[in-house]
Order: sequence, then structure tokens, then C-alpha cells
Amino acid sequence: MKNVYFFIVVLFLLSSAEILGQVNLIQNVSARKTISLDGVWDSQVDVVGVGSLGRFGLVQDRKPTKFVYNGENPRNTELVEQDMDVAEKINVPGDWNTQKEKLFLYEGNLWYRKKFSVVPQPTKRYFIYFGAVNYEATVYLNGIRIGQHKGGFTPFQFEITKELKNGENKLLVNANNTRGDDNIPTKIADWWNYGGITRSVSLIEVSDTYISDYFIQLEKGKLSEIKGWVKVSGSQKAQAVNVEIPELGLKQSVQTDTSGYAELNLSSKKIQHWSPENPKMYEVIVSSANDNVKDKIGFRTIETRGTEILLNGKPIFLKGAAIHEEAPFRTGRCYSEADARTLLTWAKELGSNYVRLAHYPHNEAMTRMADEMGLLVWSEVPIYWNVKFEKPEVYASAEKQLLENISRDKNRASVILWSVANETNESEPRLAFLKKLLEKTKAVDPTRLTTAALLAKEGKNEFSLEDPLGEFVDVMGCNEYIGWYTLPAELAPSIKWTSKFNKPLIMSEFGAEAVAGLHGSADEIWTEEYQNRIFENQVKMLNNIPFLRGTSVWALMDFRSPLRLLPIKQDFFNRKGMVSDMGIKKMAFFTLKNWYQTK
Ligand code: GCU
Repeated sequence: MKNVYFFIVVLFLLSSAEILGQVNLIQNVSARKTISLDGVWDSQVDVVGVGSLGRFGLVQDRKPTKFVYNGENPRNTELVEQDMDVAEKINVPGDWNTQKEKLFLYEGNLWYRKKFSVVPQPTKRYFIYFGAVNYEATVYLNGIRIGQHKGGFTPFQFEITKELKNGENKLLVNANNTRGDDNIPTKIADWWNYGGITRSVSLIEVSDTYISDYFIQLEKGKLSEIKGWVKVSGSQKAQAVNVEIPELGLKQSVQTDTSGYAELNLSSKKIQHWSPENPKMYEVIVSSANDNVKDKIGFRTIETRGTEILLNGKPIFLKGAAIHEEAPFRTGRCYSEADARTLLTWAKELGSNYVRLAHYPHNEAMTRMADEMGLLVWSEVPIYWNVKFEKPEVYASAEKQLLENISRDKNRASVILWSVANETNESEPRLAFLKKLLEKTKAVDPTRLTTAALLAKEGKNEFSLEDPLGEFVDVMGCNEYIGWYTLPAELAPSIKWTSKFNKPLIMSEFGAEAVAGLHGSADEIWTEEYQNRIFENQVKMLNNIPFLRGTSVWALMDFRSPLRLLPIKQDFFNRKGMVSDMGIKKMAFFTLKNWYQTK
């Protein structure tokens, strides 16, 4: 029996690295030698995609294009109709919608160009790394098409060692945020479709052989057993790699195999386990003959037992808020530590020990800040509403985004839940699609829990969780809007919640809208009093749900949405925030805060 178990663990470890090898992301880019390409870029709006039309001599792959690169052409002798040298400027990172009034509603192609100088070293390799580009990015360097990526919220990189020039280089990116039925997310979503290079861009320099990836976490349910793997890429894949945790006096030297892979296991009874009360992190050093990567990693276990969620073996109630990646005060996509600190500080002020980062992977500054501030994280891929579940190419896109998300954040102690869907209608293709994604998630990372935001079967006095997907997730999420979209608020306390599954429930969304500062009687919709009345009834109902083990209010802060049209009240904002986008705390913020103090 022991051998079978050992065989399974080896299988998991091997498959995890192999599967993540598919997305091939360099782990922990911020700890590598990089040149930031953030700052002012040249930009050209291209409504119909002129630049991609062959007519301008844009040839596929590996051949320079007149359109793409200017300055080479003797301008006054040749017809050139696009000229990035005189194009408008735009900031990177940052969505284009909040940078230029004329681009606020724009969806389509926009060309970005950055000139940068570098002296490439012969023994080094070079990668261009994007934190995220919404939605489709086509990347060129010095006239050569390097690659393409789809998915607006996950990182990607391309190797450019061969294309990189000594001296001035020209990087061009076509970003296209046109919505599509076969995309993930699909066409209709309740958040603003901010376009562009929304997160940082870096030029990474690594040795010819380098430590490309590692996964270092506590083994499931084991408080003193650190298990994981390291991955070396390059010409000398088989070599010695050291993994050290100096503060714990731990050090292991492992030998990678011909695929560059090696497992590691360290054990210590002295580990201070990461938790919201004590977000303890350890410096972890992964080094080899020609590489050295330092990371800050917290060690905690997360499990379920019946309807309980156990953090470090003890039951926990997750109290928190759902957050969109909407920047406080200035609106637009968040990307900085400052944005993350502001939002997570508001969540902490609400009494949170947990946040749901909705509905897509947020920037890395957010999950690293959650590590530091001690907030548990629900992390999600945007499989949202009407996804084309029957299409294999849609599954491929969903799986890729899931793997990119897990790859980037697999060493973050704060991240405890991988969510694979939000409010998707039951169907056979949907169940098959999501079951496959859940299996993939477990194969890559069995140390964390899986979840999805389900919809309850609504009865007059009973809401029941019967969605067949409930059987395949570790934790059920459920979104309900009793008092706002359905049923009078006062009915909430008398509603009985039941479930077909002996599993913990997180009420992943509940709430109502209010315009911050608008006051009136409690039956006047859009007033803070009206929103608060709904919350007073909600907390009574939530108290009565026997298998409830967490709540994330919808939402922490008001956020932009193309679905919210009501002038004066909404003005393209979903006003369900506990805090307005300008940081004003609404009455309901304090009702919920008081309730969280009882949990
Ligand atoms: C849904 C959905 C959210 C949306 C919210 C709302 O539950 O998951 O994305 O914003 O309802 O209607 O405000």
C-alpha cells in the first residue's frame, strides 16, 4: 500500500511540472535580472486592423515589414501611411480606455511600439515577458513576428535571443480587445473590457542554463513536510540544484534529470505556519551552478473535512469581499503595489481574512500583497456566464489560462482556492468541460482546493444547492441577490438553505447597489439606507446556513461595467461596492464589518 501511495505522489509531482511545462512560464520574474520596458510607448489606433492587412507588405513570420517599422524608409521617397515615430504616446502598463477620452469606449486593434537599447551577452538568453495584454497580443521584434497570445489576464513570454540586436531594438505589439463568443471570457460580462498592455513588460536575461520553475509548498495535510519540484531549462538540464530555507536551517541538494526535473522534500517541526493572523514568510533560495533565485514563501495547509474548511488543520470561516481589478480613485485596470495595498487595506478594514479576486487572474502584485498582508485568496479564470462549452478550442483557451494562472501563483501561500467557473448554466457539455478542468487543476496542484460559483435552485422559502458540478469541487461557491434581484429583503432571514453535498459553502456573492452619499428612506432604491436594509436581512440569513464557511460580499468597491447604464445612479458603474471608487464607505460597509466581528 505504501508503495502505491509513493507512486501516486511521484506521479503527481512529475505530471505537475510536465503539465506546467506546456505554458512554460519563468517562475518569479521579479527576482530575475530584468530590464523594465514600462513607461511611455508609441501607439497607433487601428480600427479596422489596417496594419495586419497584407496590402502593406506585412508578411507572415520572420520577414521584416514596412508597416511595422519606420525610420528605415526614406520617408520623403516612399508612400508610408503609418508612422510610429510620430504616433501618439501612451503609458505602459495601463489600459488605453482611461488614458485617452477618445479611447474610453474603444474596442479593437491598437499598435504599441517601444524602442530600447541593449548589449546582449553571448552566454545569455533573453525573453520578453508580459504580465498581461487584453485580449489578443501579436508581438514583433525588429520586424520579426515573435508570437501571439490570447487571454487578457495571464502572463506570457517569448524567447527573443536570436532576434535581439546589439543596440537599438524595436518591439511592436498589436493588442486587440475585440470581444468574441468563443473567447474566455465571452462577449457579455459585467465588467469593463479595458484594452491594451495592462501590466508590466520586462526583458529577462538568464544564463544559457537556468532555473526556469519551482513549486515549493507543504504537502497536503502535512504541517512539517515541504514537498515540490524544481525545473532547469537550457543545454545542461541534468545538474545539481540547491534548495535552502536558511531561517529554518533547511538545505537540500537535488540532481535534476535529463528533462531538467527533480523533486524535493524537506521537513521541519519549526515551521511557523502562514495565516491571516501571522502571515509568516520564509526566504527560499533555489540555486545551481549558473543561477540563483530568491523567493518569499509562506507555508500553510488548506483542506476540507465534511463541511469544514481547515487552515493549518483548524476550522476557519472565510470572511471577505469580492474585488474587481478596478483601480481605486483613478479607475481603469490595477497593476501596481499601491493599487493592491489600497484595495486590500479596505478589505482588512472591513474585517476580512479572505478576498475573492473576480472574475479573472489579477496582477501578481495583488497576490504577493495578499501573502504579505495575510489575506486568503480565491483565484479565478473568467469562465463566466455563456461560455461555448461544446467547442474544443474554447476548452483549450480556458485550460491555458488556468495553467498560466496556477503556474504564476503556485508558490503564493495566500492563494487557497482555484475557481473554474462563475454562474454557468447547467448542461452536459458544461459539466464535462468543467470536470476536465478540475481534474487538470488537481493534477497540477493537489495542495489547494477547487471551487466554482454555482447558482442555487430558488424556491419560495428554500434555496438548495443541487448543481451537479457541486459533486466535483472541494468547496461550493454560490451567488445570491436576495432583496436586490429576487424576493423582498425581509424574506431572507426565513429562507432555508439546503445542499445535496456534504461540503463547505462560500457565499461567493451577495449584495445590492447604492450611490455613495445618497441618503433617504430604506425603501428608496439606490440610497445607502436601501442597500443597508438588504444587508441587515442578509446577515441574519447567512447566520442560519449550517454549512456556510465563508462569504465574499459583492463587491468591495464600485467598478465599471458596460451593463450599468442608468444615468446619475450608475453611469457605467456597478454600484454594489461597500466602498465607492473614490473610497467612500457606505452604511452597509459597517453593517457587514459588525457581522464579521461576530464570525
Ligand atoms: C453576478 C456576476 C457578477 C455581477 C453581479 C451583479 O452574480 O457574477 O459578475 O457583477 O452578479 O449583478 O452585480
